[in-house]
Amino acid sequence: MYELSDELVQLGLQRIKGFPVDGFVRSRGAQNPALMLVGEAPGENEIETGVPFTGRAGKELMASLGSIGLEREDVYITSAVRSRPYKWGSKKERDGSLTERKYNRAPTKKEIIAHAPILDAEINDLNPPLIVTLGNIGLQRLIGPQAKVTQLHGVLLETPILKWDEENQRFMETEQHYHLFPTFHPASVFYNPPVRALKDEDWLKLGELLRTRG
Ligand code: URA
Repeated sequence: MYELSDELVQLGLQRIKGFPVDGFVRSRGAQNPALMLVGEAPGENEIETGVPFTGRAGKELMASLGSIGLEREDVYITSAVRSRPYKWGSKKERDGSLTERKYNRAPTKKEIIAHAPILDAEINDLNPPLIVTLGNIGLQRLIGPQAKVTQLHGVLLETPILKWDEENQRFMETEQHYHLFPTFHPASVFYNPPVRALKDEDWLKLGELLRTRG
């Protein structure tokens, strides 16, 4: 079992201080994972459970993993940001009144930079044989903002990835090349149902890849 060190957790908490985010999902997973999954950021559910992908998107993700014979314990699940980015909004109650509540939102570039050393350390420590990015946030964090999941999904890339260089305050490409397989974020099928067929096809390809690579 691999788990983040207390030092990294403290660093993550310290670097994200002052941003509109809640909590911190520590994440843990296989020490020698078949793959590393890189999502976006935890949502409300995950902050409650302390476990990544335990909400509605998580159910969807577990079904995809199951479709290729894998379970949560076989993989390592992480994300670009480890705290829940939120925004305030109003919710209409049944009686018509409005109440203020927090809504999940995508992380900003600054929040992604704040937690970049955590993902860098996980990749460094685990050296995963295959990194599967879920959605644009995870993909762009690792290969840059020009990358689009709609163009790159379902394709195995062999590529340098981006690591945060604190001294120069910028992302730098690694010398090492990694195997990266971009696919859609599991939640994308909820707001864009036609994506489901593409996503399911990607997972079948991924299963095939794992079988042929041994
Ligand atoms: N989206 C993510 O990227 N991670 C989670 O844990 C849940 C939703």
